[in-house]
Amino acid sequence: MNADSQTHGAPLQPIRPRRLRTSAVLREAVCETRVHPAQLIQPHFVLDQDSGEELIPSMPGIVRHGRTELLRQVEADWKLGLRSVLLFGLPKQGGKDSTGSASSDPLGPVPQAVRELKRAFGPDLVVMTDVCLCAYTDHGHCGVLAGGKIDNDASLGWIADAALAHAQAGADFVAPSDMMDGRIGAIRARLDGEGLPDVGILAYSVKYASAYYGPFREAADSAPAHGDRRSYQMDPRNGREALREVALDEQEGADMIMVKPALAYLDVISRVRGATQLPVVAYNVSGEYSAVKAAAMAGWLDEGQVVRENLHAMVRAGSDLVITYHARAALQQGWL
Ligand code: PBG
Ligand code: ZN
Repeated sequence: MNADSQTHGAPLQPIRPRRLRTSAVLREAVCETRVHPAQLIQPHFVLDQDSGEELIPSMPGIVRHGRTELLRQVEADWKLGLRSVLLFGLPKQGGKDSTGSASSDPLGPVPQAVRELKRAFGPDLVVMTDVCLCAYTDHGHCGVLAGGKIDNDASLGWIADAALAHAQAGADFVAPSDMMDGRIGAIRARLDGEGLPDVGILAYSVKYASAYYGPFREAADSAPAHGDRRSYQMDPRNGREALREVALDEQEGADMIMVKPALAYLDVISRVRGATQLPVVAYNVSGEYSAVKAAAMAGWLDEGQVVRENLHAMVRAGSDLVITYHARAALQQGWL
């Protein structure tokens, strides 16, 4: 507004976006993003034992469950409105070897937990399972090694075997997190070949080599014994490359596409949303959880308000579903 415009006719009034923010009911009426409990996926760490519970120091509020406690917890969560779980298994002491062969044991922690959950809930619970070798290999890498390097193509068979074991136990979706090339196609072929065409694949398509996985690696005892995961997980500096991974996984038969981590990659979630018609799933990872939790425990921020803001940010960016360790508390405490 300049002095000149003031001299002609009525003085200019500002346009007032604030009118839409006048009251809580009005803000609720015009808000652009809502998060529904059905969109939330609660991760669980499953021990290979009938009962018992172990604390995870780096993830306050999250524990490793024996099967009895897992069932009890999922039941309580179901009553809160949670309908989807993502399972991570921890093999028994001494259960690791160079190929992670325990990952495809039909009596391993994940298949057993899946059978029990499916027996208890049937179709009323969506059971998804993380498929990877790293919790089962003695070297902690997500693929098998040959001459000290990851052997991509030799890993595919082991990964497909693990997915098959989960699917045969009754998993609704298998979620491969290894980032080997060609794994979606290999898993799809194996499931179809074994008469399991209805089991879906949630592809960890866009998985960055992120320091935000730190607390998880303690929780799942899956840190690499040497080296890092940068030869298979994506470089955090890349965005375009994400669209290439999504296109390949879609071609190979993925049913849902994941972006992981979430909060430092909202731009990627948004670009992926525009590049696929498949559901997009954000993984709000362990380090994102623990950072909020630690600050909240120190009294430095309001946990409920931050979790609410983060969940809405992921959905606003384009996620249809959100995997988050905050899911239970968000519903219990009414943070949504
Ligand atoms: C294993 C796997 C990881 C996560 C999910 N599956 C860790 C990793 O790749 O090192 C991370 C989950 C989290 O941090 O919450 N492949
Ligand atoms: Zn892995």
